[in-house]
Amino acid sequence: MKNRLLFLLFIIIGSKTYSQNALFVPDTLSGTNFVLTMHEDSVPFFPGKYSHTYAFNNNKYLGPTLFFQQGTNVNILVHNQISDTTTVHWHGIHVPAIWDGGPYSEILPGDSWNPQFTVMDHAAMYWYHPHPDMKTAEQAIKGAAGLIIVRDPIEAALALPRTYGVDDIPLVVQSQQYDSLNQAMPRGMQDSTILVNGTMNPFVNVPAQIVRLRLLNASGERTFNFGFTANMQFYQIGSDGGLLDVPYATDRVRLGPGERAEVLVDLNNRAGQTFYLMSYASELAMGIQGGPTMPMPPGYPNMDSPLNGIDFNILQFNVGAPNTQPILTIPNVLTANTPLDPASANITRTIRFTADSAMVMDGPFYFNDSTFNMERFDYQIPLNNIEMWKLVNETMVAHPFHIHDVQFYLLDRNGVTPTDGERGRKDVVLIPPGDSVTFITQFTDFADSLMPYMYHCHILMHEDDGMMGQFVVIPTSVGVNEISSKNTNVKAYPNPATDNISISIPTSIQNYQLSVKNIVGQTIYSVNANHEKQEINTSSWPRGMYFVEVLNNDFRQSEKIVLQ
Ligand code: C2O
Ligand code: CU
Ligand code: CU
Repeated sequence: MKNRLLFLLFIIIGSKTYSQNALFVPDTLSGTNFVLTMHEDSVPFFPGKYSHTYAFNNNKYLGPTLFFQQGTNVNILVHNQISDTTTVHWHGIHVPAIWDGGPYSEILPGDSWNPQFTVMDHAAMYWYHPHPDMKTAEQAIKGAAGLIIVRDPIEAALALPRTYGVDDIPLVVQSQQYDSLNQAMPRGMQDSTILVNGTMNPFVNVPAQIVRLRLLNASGERTFNFGFTANMQFYQIGSDGGLLDVPYATDRVRLGPGERAEVLVDLNNRAGQTFYLMSYASELAMGIQGGPTMPMPPGYPNMDSPLNGIDFNILQFNVGAPNTQPILTIPNVLTANTPLDPASANITRTIRFTADSAMVMDGPFYFNDSTFNMERFDYQIPLNNIEMWKLVNETMVAHPFHIHDVQFYLLDRNGVTPTDGERGRKDVVLIPPGDSVTFITQFTDFADSLMPYMYHCHILMHEDDGMMGQFVVIPTSVGVNEISSKNTNVKAYPNPATDNISISIPTSIQNYQLSVKNIVGQTIYSVNANHEKQEINTSSWPRGMYFVEVLNNDFRQSEKIVLQ
């Protein structure tokens, strides 16, 4: 009772000092059939002033949290009810490229998309967000994002908190800049508004027991150096794509855009207390967005935010009485990750992060000096290849590198073994300026030589500006060197086309098979031929994207074509 009174007192005092808002916790959907409707909405983030938002289903900002059970087949119907073309990407989830929701999987306004896949992922928190070519920032920062929580038997067997919204709380942390009309700015580098689950100045009531927090940095560019008031110790139990082997006792977890961490806080005997989730941004190195602002000569973009380089509060926790059947202890062992052996790697690829000059602060940035080109597959990766990717940041700002399709294990940062918090399964890694990291991964399960997966910087404006590449995972039965999308011998035109497409084939290519596949990989047209030119009447075909493929024993090439 005394605790309750104290707690009430805190609420009253709290509400007098700040105008605080109860943390919004997104609703949930579970089972195997999901419907997501992206729509336009508005939210008065600033009293009486509305900001345009995108959201899913009944929400005005963000979308429902999807619960996936490992091993089930899920069927998701995505409706696009915004007035712009979009895509929905399942960030961190291992799915066939056609269901990955990258820039190829466009959903036109009013249209729907119906990915179906088997959940193969480990228990962890993933997320979904739009990924249209050059418009990811604009759409994602309006709120079109949601969480996915995967459950699996290993996690289910552990005595961990898992009452959603009570002792297992998802926290989508975003830093935004709003313009003078209160609209979110996709390129806002003076971001100073922090939202947690879309709530400004949030507080949440938690029971005095072990509480699990699932953190996602869904910001466009800011990195958070998360910790709690007075350097409270906590236990990191998971990273982007799975549990760590054992809880990692620490007082900080640094998350760049796109990264997730699961942590346990021990609130036993703390009823009546108040503390904050914070960012200890004063400890971030200059060059990491969110650390101290880099002094720049006049004429350079203003990147100064009042949050840069200082320690600040993000979310207030008010600890109440424990609830019934509380989790009171932290397990000693969580899972057994089996990182791949570097000696087993088939190849090491080096990707340098580059810019036009050493002074570039705001982009564009590149991988190996080239900008994203939808017509170019940067890598053809044989199915089941084990690869080490060495990422070298030659620019003066930090970049969170993200790869689709796979989870990876970090091998080193600048030659040094990473901390235990970074030794679990990951799909984003933050690379500060001048640093290099190496990860190892294997490209299992899904081969599709036509539909690529993306890798990119998860600073959304860097991604939209071309800091992105793409790879196809190719079946091992096809000779790797025969496939090259850089090879433009075969031409399909006009592109976009309407009622007819013409395909010209060099005379050197004899006895080929010409086929056309639709976006989901079904062959809808196929002919064996030996001519230099083919005409296909497409007037009755649904409008959208197609792949024209020319194949014989020693040649294979595909061209993407759009019917309008
Ligand atoms: Cu979170 Cu390619 O994306
Ligand atoms: Cu992704
Ligand atoms: Cu970047």
